[in-house]
Amino acid sequence: MSQALIRRPWQAILAAILLFFLVLLISKSHVHSGIPSTLGFSQSGLSSPVAINQTLGFQQIFVVSLPERTDRRDSMILATALSDIKFDFIDAIHGDQVPDRAIPFGTGRSAAGGDSNIGSWRAHMNAISEVVRRNLTTALILEDDADWDIRIKDQLYDFSRSSRALIQPLASDSRAYADSTYPTPSSPDALPSKDLDFYDLPSTLQPSKSPYGDEWEMLWLGHCGMNFPVKGMGGDGRADLIPKGRVVRLDDQTVPETQFMYSVSEVKDLTQYPNHTRVVSHAGDGICSLGYAVTQASARRLSYHLGVTEITGQFDIMLKQFCDGTAGKGHHNCLTVRPGLFQHHRPAGLKAYNSDISDHGQEVRKKARSDNLRWPVRTNFDALLAGTTDYKDQFPDTAG
Ligand SMILES: *[C@@H]1O[C@H](CO)[C@@H](O)[C@H](O)[C@H]1NC(C)=O
Ligand SMILES: *[C@@H]1O[C@H](CO)[C@@H](O)[C@H](O)[C@H]1NC(C)=O
Ligand SMILES: *[C@@H]1O[C@H](CO)[C@@H](O)[C@H](O)[C@H]1NC(C)=O
Repeated sequence: MSQALIRRPWQAILAAILLFFLVLLISKSHVHSGIPSTLGFSQSGLSSPVAINQTLGFQQIFVVSLPERTDRRDSMILATALSDIKFDFIDAIHGDQVPDRAIPFGTGRSAAGGDSNIGSWRAHMNAISEVVRRNLTTALILEDDADWDIRIKDQLYDFSRSSRALIQPLASDSRAYADSTYPTPSSPDALPSKDLDFYDLPSTLQPSKSPYGDEWEMLWLGHCGMNFPVKGMGGDGRADLIPKGRVVRLDDQTVPETQFMYSVSEVKDLTQYPNHTRVVSHAGDGICSLGYAVTQASARRLSYHLGVTEITGQFDIMLKQFCDGTAGKGHHNCLTVRPGLFQHHRPAGLKAYNSDISDHGQEVRKKARSDNLRWPVRTNFDALLAGTTDYKDQFPDTAG
C-alpha cells in the first residue's frame, strides 16, 4: 500500500467501496445481458470467447473417411483448420472388403443395404470401437462431407445450455428436472406444461462429465431429418417412453427462413414455430449419421447393439432404433437439435460423386452449397482465407 493511502486511510476505504460497487455493477450488467456474445452472434465469428474448445467440448473428434477420397480429406482439413477444430481421421472401407464371416448374425449384408452400406456400417463401427478401445469419455463422430456454420462454437455453447436445461437436475431441487417428462414420462400422454424458452432457462446443477450434461448417451447433431418424439410417432408406441421437453430459441439468426430448408422431415415440425427458430429436444425417428456424439458408456452399448449382437438395418437406421428403443435395443438418452448443426456439403461437380453409398445421378452442380446453413465454412473459404468478415449468406431473408 502506498504511503499516501496509509496516511489517509479514509481515502483507501472510499476507494475500496467504489471498487466494490464497480465490480457489482459490471457483474450485474453481465447477468442482464444474458448470454454474452451469443445473443447477437458477434461478427468476430470464430474468435468468439465462448467455452467450447478445439474438440468442441468432446474429448476427441473422429472423421470417418475413405482414404482415397483425398478431395474430401483436403476440404475437411481446411474447414477444421479455419474453424480452429482438432480431429483425427478414421479410415472407412468398401463393403466388398468386409467378408461375409465378419458380418454379425442377423439379416446380413442385404438388410444393411448391400455392399456400400456395409462399408459405411463398418467405418462407423471402427470409430465407435476406437472410442471404446481408447477409453475416451466422449467423442464426436462426423462423416467427411459434414459442414457447419462459422459460428459453430457459439452454436454449440448455446446447445450446451439447452441440453443441460433438459437433462441436468434443477439447482433448486436436485431430484427434479425442468422437463417434467424426464427421464421417463409418467404416461404415454404426459407432456411438459410448455416449451422451455432459451432466453429464460432454469438454473441447473453443474455437470461433471461433459459440458453438455451428464446423462446423455447420444447427441445427434448432424442428421437429415428428425421428428419430435410425440405420441404416435412411427405408428407405434415407441415415443411413449421418450421425454417430450423442448428448448425453443426464437430469433436465431443462424437459422434460415423455413422456406429455404432442405429435407422434408427436417422442416415438417418446425413450421409450427416462427422463422429462425431452433429447437433442442430428445431425438425421434432420426435419419443419416452425419454427426453424432457418444460417451464411453454409450459407445460400449452401440458396439454391442449395432455390431456385436446383430445387424438390423443400415447404420443410421440402427442409430434410430438405438434412440427410439426399437428392434430390441432398448431406450437410450438421445438429444438432438433442429435444424441440425452439421449439414451435408455438396461440392461443385458431378452429383454422382456426392456419395459412395447412394446414387446421386449424372447431373453437374455448378455451385457448391451446404444444406440449411447460413454461413457455411466450406462456401466461405474465400472470406475466411482472406481474413475478412464478409461472409456469404446462403439464405438471406426475403422480406427486408
Ligand atoms: C475439450 O473439452 C472436453 C470436455 O471438457 C475435454 O474432454 C477435452 O479434452 C478438451 N479438448 C481439448 C483439446 O482441450
Ligand atoms: C477407463 O477410464 C475410467 C475413468 O474414466 C477408468 O476408471 C477406467 O479404469 C479406465 N479403463 C481402462 C481399461 O483403461
Ligand atoms: C417466414 O418468412 C416467409 C418470407 O418472409 C413468410 O412468407 C412466412 O410466412 C414466414 N413464416 C412464418 C411461420 O412466419
